[in-house]
Amino acid sequence: MQTKSRRQLVAGNWKMNGDKALVEQMQKHLNAANLENMDVVICPPFPYFSLFNSAVKLGSQNISQFDSGAHTGEVSVSMLKEFDCEYVILGHSERRADNFESDELVASKVEQVLKAELTPILCVGEPESVRENGTLFDYIAAQLDAVLGRVGVSQFSNIVLAYEPIWAIGTGKTASPAQAQEVHAFIRAHLAKQDDNIAANIVILYGGSVKGNNAQELFSQADVDGGLIGGASLNPEDFLSICQAANQ
Ligand code: PGA
Repeated sequence: MQTKSRRQLVAGNWKMNGDKALVEQMQKHLNAANLENMDVVICPPFPYFSLFNSAVKLGSQNISQFDSGAHTGEVSVSMLKEFDCEYVILGHSERRADNFESDELVASKVEQVLKAELTPILCVGEPESVRENGTLFDYIAAQLDAVLGRVGVSQFSNIVLAYEPIWAIGTGKTASPAQAQEVHAFIRAHLAKQDDNIAANIVILYGGSVKGNNAQELFSQADVDGGLIGGASLNPEDFLSICQAANQ
């Protein structure tokens, strides 16, 4: 694989899965691995945060748009900072669907995370019906524009993007490398309309049924800078082989 100028990143999104034993196994595997040419992030459920040691970068799967106060069940960015959390996944399609998170709410959460100087991993991606009716690029552009309108393009130098086609999440139906590359290139071109430099340097992850046996080909695409991994991040060996595919 041709070495890319952007540092590659692989993030494991455990969703509502895992247990203390997985934390231990995952750390053992990652600590023994030599992954110095890339960034590895684990996004476990909140109760497991304090069990990770400093060799692993931590990400949250969500955050409140509020600073503190009467918001039962929510977790604030300042709390996450106390546990050395560096990244926050926002706009994941499961939260958009299960928790009715609109583009506007996602944008306000991105703003909150940036204010705290953490890195949002902002997810965009279309349902299958949108791909089929030919409005894919308009759909992705609208998701990006909601955040661009709120925080401005210059803030995108502090954001990681993830393209996750909804039809590929947890289905075993991965986007082909060419399909992923096409959308990643579109995202970069869309940002380049406002700022060439930010567009060229932003890290864009692909997510959706990435496994040890397809990671290499996906990550070798010119505009794919690593992955956001769901199911395969629950198996330390699979996750490690995905990380190794990005560690070029
Ligand atoms: P998957 O999930 O790898 O299980 O498809 C990806 C994600 O939802 O981030």
